[in-house]
Amino acid sequence: MHFELSEEQQMIRQAARDFAQNELKPGVIDRDEHQKFPAEQVKKLGELGFLGMMVDPKYNGGGMDSVSYALVMEELSKVDASASVVVSVNNSLVCYGLEKYGTEAQKEKYLKPLAAGTQIGAFCLSEPEAGSDATSQQTTAEDKGDYYLLNGTKNWITNGSTASTYLVIAQTHKELKHKGINAFIVEKGTPGFTIGPKENKLGIRGSDTHSLMFNDVKVPKENRIGEDGFGFKFAMKTLEGGRIGIAAQALGIAAGAYELALAYSKERKAFGKPIADHQAIAFKLADMATQIEAARLLVHKAAWLKDQGLSYTLEGSMAKLFASKVAMDVTVEAVQIHGGYGFVKEYHVERLMRDAKITQIYEGTSEIQRVVISRSVLG
Ligand code: CAA
Repeated sequence: MHFELSEEQQMIRQAARDFAQNELKPGVIDRDEHQKFPAEQVKKLGELGFLGMMVDPKYNGGGMDSVSYALVMEELSKVDASASVVVSVNNSLVCYGLEKYGTEAQKEKYLKPLAAGTQIGAFCLSEPEAGSDATSQQTTAEDKGDYYLLNGTKNWITNGSTASTYLVIAQTHKELKHKGINAFIVEKGTPGFTIGPKENKLGIRGSDTHSLMFNDVKVPKENRIGEDGFGFKFAMKTLEGGRIGIAAQALGIAAGAYELALAYSKERKAFGKPIADHQAIAFKLADMATQIEAARLLVHKAAWLKDQGLSYTLEGSMAKLFASKVAMDVTVEAVQIHGGYGFVKEYHVERLMRDAKITQIYEGTSEIQRVVISRSVLG
């Protein structure tokens, strides 16, 4: 067992760290305030190869491992979780799903531009009545011979308006329940496919979250992913990897808030000395550092298992459950350490605290992770 990162992994982490400081930090407060999508920054992330990191280079991907992906997610999320969620969805849910389960023709047409980062994708599972309860899909995909007719509504879709390619989960054979569900590739602009207004959110306000409406949308048969009825398994397998990305995002939010609190506590003086020299603050920092390191170990273990081709369902859920709690706890403490300054936008920590909350909600809530974990530990 060894815990060192390879030279290549360290270089990738440094590139992400530099990008976060130089490209994401300027303007992050304004983007959050005005709910501006980080379009320029996402374009540059694509140029750096961070939008299709783990995809085979023959499909324009970076050919990197999942540990590198977790490192990149952590570094970007220290500064801007609205940008890192784009990286997470594009890599884990869209590119991974297409590369692992798509046909060669689907990979040629859809994966290549997504992995190159010239387009971005969206993953559409959640519905008004089917969030955590993913088997209860109300969106229907009626088999019409050489095409499917899609009808229904999807909710909370990240990259909702900025994506070009949408992976949409829908029910084809209601009587078969989850075994009748399919996954489809739907192109933006297909007649009958409309995008609802942007959600006005507590956190990750720069990311564009929308409802999507499908009204008699014709999807060619060749755009179905996998065999008839494979859609639910497709969603479950894809979300598993997504949980590593979100765990790494939560870790990054925590680590970003901690680094700010650490620096502030060394500068800010009270009662004649830096507040870091008061045990009340020093102990908080000790707890934060310990929680973050524990979260990092869980995230890296889950990513490493994935890289070894081993099962990571349990570890991915553990990493997400734990890291998202750490993100919440650490960001609250970071605001506390900053005192009044923590309550204003200029010091960044209040945004990180708001962003932390989503990590306990999306890609399966904390409760869903406990479902996955308890089923595993109970056998
Ligand atoms: N891998 C492969 N198959 C899996 C699986 C996995 N990880 N988890 C479940 N399955 C299979 C089961 O084996 C079973 O198949 P069989 O009937 O053939 O045996 C089938 O799926 C149904 O499994 P369950 O009976 O366990 O299903 P359940 O209803 O109890 O649900 C759940 C399990 C873990 C709670 C699941 O529903 C779940 O993960 N829910 C959360 C969904 C989620 O994350 N939603 C957010 C999506 S994000 C989004 O849409 C927006 C965005 O922008 C990203």
